[in-house]
Amino acid sequence: MGTIKRIGVLTSGGDAPGMNAAVRAVVRTAISRGMECIGIRRGWQGLITSDFVRLSSESVGHTLSRGGTILFTARSEDFLTERGREKAVATCKMLGLDGIVAIGGDGTFRGALELSRLGVPVVGVPATIDNDIGCTNYTIGFDTACNTAIDCIDKLRDTMQSHERCSVVEVMGRNAGFLALYVGISVGATAVLVPEHQLDIQKDVVERIRESRLAGNTHFMIVVAEGAGSAVEISKQIHEALGMDPRVTVLGHIQRGGAPNARDRETATRMGYYAVNAFAEGRGNCIIATQEGGIVEIPIEEALVMKKHLQMDRYRIMEAMQVGGDRK
Ligand code: F6P
Repeated sequence: MGTIKRIGVLTSGGDAPGMNAAVRAVVRTAISRGMECIGIRRGWQGLITSDFVRLSSESVGHTLSRGGTILFTARSEDFLTERGREKAVATCKMLGLDGIVAIGGDGTFRGALELSRLGVPVVGVPATIDNDIGCTNYTIGFDTACNTAIDCIDKLRDTMQSHERCSVVEVMGRNAGFLALYVGISVGATAVLVPEHQLDIQKDVVERIRESRLAGNTHFMIVVAEGAGSAVEISKQIHEALGMDPRVTVLGHIQRGGAPNARDRETATRMGYYAVNAFAEGRGNCIIATQEGGIVEIPIEEALVMKKHLQMDRYRIMEAMQVGGDRK
């Protein structure tokens, strides 16, 4: 890789709180290293449609605390085609981009690999509320999303408690249960359903509610990861087994919004800084990851096959917290 003079930055896939903090860090680090920075709007799609904006240090001012992404985001279908990617490479040439920092999740990094194979160096920064990227133990946005869900569930608990009801809350996470499990532990859920654990509605939900009721509880909170099943379906099964009339809440996209918290602002700033650092020191085609001991760079191809498993000890800890939880 030659000297890097101008880089592009984009956000792609589902937005996550802290993406703006990462963009800001990329822009300001680039400028401090004597590089120019161009913002590509609407993710990979913006490279195809030449949708870009010149970014200055001032233009990213006051964005650290803002949710969403000032660069907009998209899941580009066109970028999945050869023709789309050729157009993207042509835009990179036209703009004189020596590299791109791509902020997003798994789909974003698959796009990054394709582009790097066509000769455009890319550095990825993991940002998704799902925390489901194998190469990194943390993804930007996860902590804020957990706190948003916890805040909503704490509010729900007030009314469930007043009416002595059962609540079934569906949280996001795509095919992973990280969000559901962390949230479930933090709200003291009666049961948590995650895709990584084989679902047994009788044992994992009905029995738990029964035991909790026997222990004197009068309201119950069931947290379901969207990848583990539908809250509506689970609520029906609770109704059939126990005659209760659970209320269903699907938290949905509210979990993706809001001001990023300290962890997400700080992590995004560090990751953005290290992404530009990699380019400045002549490295590209890697993902910036947090692992034991700090920030590391993992080659994109390697990063995409890495797996991260849900910590099942946390699942057992959640179970152990139940009142009347002596089920052995
Ligand atoms: O990957 C982030 C995420 O919010 C997932 O948790 C969810 O399954 C998905 O995106 C929703 O995507 P969309 O915003 O396209 O509905």
